Amino acid sequence: MTLPIQFINKKMELIKNLKWRYAVKKYSEEKVSEDKVDQIVEAINLTASSCGIQPYRLFVITNPEIRKRLGEGSFNAQIHASSHLLVFAGFNEITSNYIRDYVEMTEQQRNLEKGALDVLKDTLIDYFSVQTPAQNVIWSDKQTYIGLGTALIVAAAELKVDATPMEGFDPKLFDEVLGLSERGLHASVIISLGYRDAANDFLASMSKARLPVNEFLTRID
Ligand SMILES: Cc1cc2nc3c(=O)[nH]c(=O)nc-3n(C[C@H](O)[C@H](O)[C@H](O)COP(=O)(O)O)c2cc1C
Repeated sequence: MTLPIQFINKKMELIKNLKWRYAVKKYSEEKVSEDKVDQIVEAINLTASSCGIQPYRLFVITNPEIRKRLGEGSFNAQIHASSHLLVFAGFNEITSNYIRDYVEMTEQQRNLEKGALDVLKDTLIDYFSVQTPAQNVIWSDKQTYIGLGTALIVAAAELKVDATPMEGFDPKLFDEVLGLSERGLHASVIISLGYRDAANDFLASMSKARLPVNEFLTRID
């Protein structure tokens, strides 16, 4: 089968863009347009999650004072020195009420009768109630990383926006400054958006370091 030329071009474009992106250390002053940020947010919202119940929330932070406070004690200047900061906040608990509301929303969005997804709802409620609270937090955090991956790829591949995923921050400080605990949330992972300051970022001119694919991959046919 021969692939259409547009498909081959698109594929090459994606790989080229993924080679173009890197975890930026130093950003320029240029701001990312709100339209692009909206597209990244929408892509994150469309990201798959296990059981499909989106057990995390996203914060977009531009306020300079708040960002300064969030960056205190962190080696990552990108927390305050970038265009936008996105915080992925995991759930502290997976409650039966949350599952009930989410499944009801799904029924409405799919024009199903109320109760049509009762089996799904009861199965999820049973499942999450037998997991320990710590297991549910870990599960929720894993889902945030899938959203993080979407943000990185969409930012780089579709929009040519630079981004830095970060675990180097003080989660307790984030919880406090953003009032996350009161909302049943905790900071899981963050990402800054902006445009690279290529002249002053030591990483801008470095080649990508990755394993050869044949070392990384095992195929079992
Ligand atoms: C979950 C995660 C956390 C990371 N935390 C940080 C961080 O705190 N600070 C930082 O400068 N880079 C951070 N990085 C960037 C990685 O160091 C970088 O992605 C990796 O070295 C590969 O390089 P590249 O993304 O530039 O290709 C993180 C990346 C990921 C995926």
